[in-house]
Amino acid sequence: MPAKTISAPKTDFCASLLAWFQPELRQMPWRETSDPYQIWISEIMLQQTQVQTVKPYFKKFVERFPTVQALAESPLEPVLKHWEGLGYYSRARNLHKGAQVVVSDFAGQLPQNRAEILKIPGIGPYTAGAVLSIAFQLPEPAIDGNVLRVFSRLYALTDPIDKKPAQIQIEAWVRALIDPQRPGDFNQALMELGATVCSPGKPKCGECPLRVYCQAAQAGNPEAYPRKAGKTQVKILNLQVALLAWQGHYLLKQEKESGIFRDLWVLPWSADGLEALEAQILAETGLKTELGDSLGQVEHTLTHRQMKMALHPGGEYQAPQAPLLPVGWAWYQPGKDAPLAVPVAHQKIFKFLDAHPLLHLMHF
Ligand code: ADE
Ligand code: SF4
Repeated sequence: MPAKTISAPKTDFCASLLAWFQPELRQMPWRETSDPYQIWISEIMLQQTQVQTVKPYFKKFVERFPTVQALAESPLEPVLKHWEGLGYYSRARNLHKGAQVVVSDFAGQLPQNRAEILKIPGIGPYTAGAVLSIAFQLPEPAIDGNVLRVFSRLYALTDPIDKKPAQIQIEAWVRALIDPQRPGDFNQALMELGATVCSPGKPKCGECPLRVYCQAAQAGNPEAYPRKAGKTQVKILNLQVALLAWQGHYLLKQEKESGIFRDLWVLPWSADGLEALEAQILAETGLKTELGDSLGQVEHTLTHRQMKMALHPGGEYQAPQAPLLPVGWAWYQPGKDAPLAVPVAHQKIFKFLDAHPLLHLMHF
C-alpha cells in the first residue's frame, strides 16, 4: 500500500518543484500575459497539441481576436480558419460558443470560481483549474495526463489511472500539495515535468527535482506506473434457459426490464438457478414446469460479458390448442412464424437445437 502522504514538508516539495521550473527561463507567449482570456485560449490550444506547435497559432489567434468580445462577435468561419492545422476543431467551436456565453452571461469576464467557470462551453475540470490557477492565482489543481502520471509514480499508486477513484485520489493529493502562493506555476511545473522529465517510457529520474519524494523511483520501478485497467474484464454470466415446447413451438417472453435485450423476444432465462426460473414461468404464465438437467450449453460473447447458457428442458405440451399466454409471452416456431425480434444469443440456441435433433427427442 502506498503511504498516503509524502513524507516531507509541503514547502520543501513546492520549493524543489518551483526551483526546477524557473518560469523566467521558460518563456512561452501565453506566460507573458496575465489576461485570463489569453490564458484560456492557450490552455484550449495546448490540450491535444505540443507547445512548439501552439506558439505561432496562439500569437496569430490573439492578434486577430484580441478580446473575448472580438471572438464572440466574430462569425465562426474566421475562428475555424485560424484553427486550421491545429486539429480537433470542436475545440474552436466550443471556444467561440464559450466566448459568447462569457459575454452574454458573465459580463465579458471569466468567472473566478470553479462552479461558475465550468458552465462555459469547452471548459472542463482541467481547463477550469488551469485558468483559475494561472490567471487568478487560485489554488485549484489542473490535472492533465502528465500530472496523473507524475502523481501515480510519486505515490506508487496501484489503482488504475483510467478509473475515477484514482483520479479523485490524485486530485486530493494535488490539492494538499499545491503552493498557495504560486498555484499557476505549481500546476505548469507539474505538467512540464511530466512532459519532459517524467515521461511515459523512460523517466529521467536522475534529473528529477521530485526524486527524493518519489516512491516509485525509490522502489526502482517507475515504469511500472501508471497502472491501467485497460479494457474491462469480460464478465462470465452463467445462465439457465428453459425450453418449453408446444408442437414445435418454443415458449418465448419479451424482455421488459431495462437491459441489453429490452423489447426483444428470448427464451425464459435466469441467473439464479432452476427453481427461480420455474417460479418465474409459473408466476407470469401460470404454466407449471419442472426443468430437467442441462442438454447442453450455448455461448455468446458480448462486449463486456460472455453468456454461458445452459439449456434445460421443461417438457412439451401435447394439447391441440396452444396453452393460453399473457401479453408479452408467445409460442414461437423459429423460421416458420412471423419473425419476432430474437437476439443473436437466443437465435444460437435455436440453431443448436436444430443441429441436435436427437437430444431434443430424448428429452421431450
Ligand atoms: N500544457 C498545457 N498547458 C500548459 C502550460 N500552461 N504549461 C506547460 N504545459 C502545458
Ligand atoms: Fe517521475 Fe522519476 Fe521524478 Fe519519480 S523521480 S516523479 S518517476 S521522473
